[in-house]
Amino acid sequence: MDRFECLACGPVASRDPYSPFCPACGEPLFVAPPCPGRPRGCRGDRALALERWADFLPLERIDARLSLGEGSTPLVRLERLGASLGRARLFAKNEAQNPTGSFKDRGTAVAVQKAVALGARMIGTVSTGNMAASTAAYGARAGLPTFVLLKEGTSTLSLRAAGIHGPRLVAVEGDYGRLFRMSVEVGKRLGIMFMNSIDPYRLEGYKVTAFEIFLQLGGRAPRAVFVPLSSGGHLLGLMRGFADLESAGLASSFPAVVGVQAAGCAPLAAAFGRGLDRCEPPARARTIAHAIANPDPPAGSAVLRTVRDRRGLIVAVADEEMLEAQRELAAAEGLFCQPEAAATLAALKTLAAAGWPEGDGDDVLVLTGSGLKAPAALDSAPMTINVLAVGELEAGLARLV
Ligand SMILES: Cc1ncc(COP(=O)(O)O)c(C=O)c1O
Ligand SMILES: [Zn+2]
Repeated sequence: MDRFECLACGPVASRDPYSPFCPACGEPLFVAPPCPGRPRGCRGDRALALERWADFLPLERIDARLSLGEGSTPLVRLERLGASLGRARLFAKNEAQNPTGSFKDRGTAVAVQKAVALGARMIGTVSTGNMAASTAAYGARAGLPTFVLLKEGTSTLSLRAAGIHGPRLVAVEGDYGRLFRMSVEVGKRLGIMFMNSIDPYRLEGYKVTAFEIFLQLGGRAPRAVFVPLSSGGHLLGLMRGFADLESAGLASSFPAVVGVQAAGCAPLAAAFGRGLDRCEPPARARTIAHAIANPDPPAGSAVLRTVRDRRGLIVAVADEEMLEAQRELAAAEGLFCQPEAAATLAALKTLAAAGWPEGDGDDVLVLTGSGLKAPAALDSAPMTINVLAVGELEAGLARLV
């Protein structure tokens, strides 16, 4: 039996497997860290990322048939961009290389392993895009009927990227925060195990990103890690991963984690900047960065508290800054990510200009999703297309050399 904890109440005696919330106070629940003292490490000879880091995960057994080969993504050195920003050791963790093109697969993989172990007959998720495709894919893999609830108005591309896997696809009108909470209640009544953005097992999957970064840097924690921030499940999972490495005696330091929001919908950055413990939904949310535009993050207080306790930061960047950073990553380094993921570079640029952090160290941008997920963002990208008749090819190319 897994043990759970709530940041407000401490250890939690029993938990409803259909709900991610603490039964006493309604804050998010986390899987309690593994018992200290038991030796833990990476099993380097195993094929799957989940198997390699099984010592740190709450899975009694791992069914390889449920996996799509998530994780084990490259940590790519950004020499050109690093040099231009005075960061000698800048890296990108390229999560676009996950099976459905985003980091969500890491969380879905663990949540589905657990759902099957618990005997769930149906699974579901509430998403603005990436989590929908990911849950639909892993649901198909597991052969489980899968319910994907998307907000009315979600792009056709996102609907189809999930729909191709054959889930029950539902576009829901109304408030997204309310939909999140209602999905949990309705799911329990109908026997659908919802694995939404802050599901405790999803977060366990995100820990593995921290473990991989640690190993890829030669067995040390980076100085700073930049992550796009919406509901906060990803950031909390990463931070719990770095905390596990510390408590296992493997890492001797903890990185400064920087959560990056879109200025057009930045409830957490606003609350962080004002020193508040809770965030308020913005009066009006307006951004192209739909994947990081949750106006009412259900783990908001936990994110604010965890980031403050560990001396991290939460900042916001403008849409134009994200789009410029997206082009820079693509043109200078060959990495094509979503604007939401490029928000990390935009934040680094602003902080680097202000001299943060000082000195040398490893800085990591977590590029959470593929640029192919949001092709409409390219509509405004400046691009010159040269048209030539085939007979003028040589002369035409010579002019471009
Ligand atoms: C590409 C991308 N980056 C970041 C996030 C934010 O993750 P979280 O909601 O866990 O904060 C999302 C969420 O959907 C996403 O799709
Ligand atoms: Zn509680």
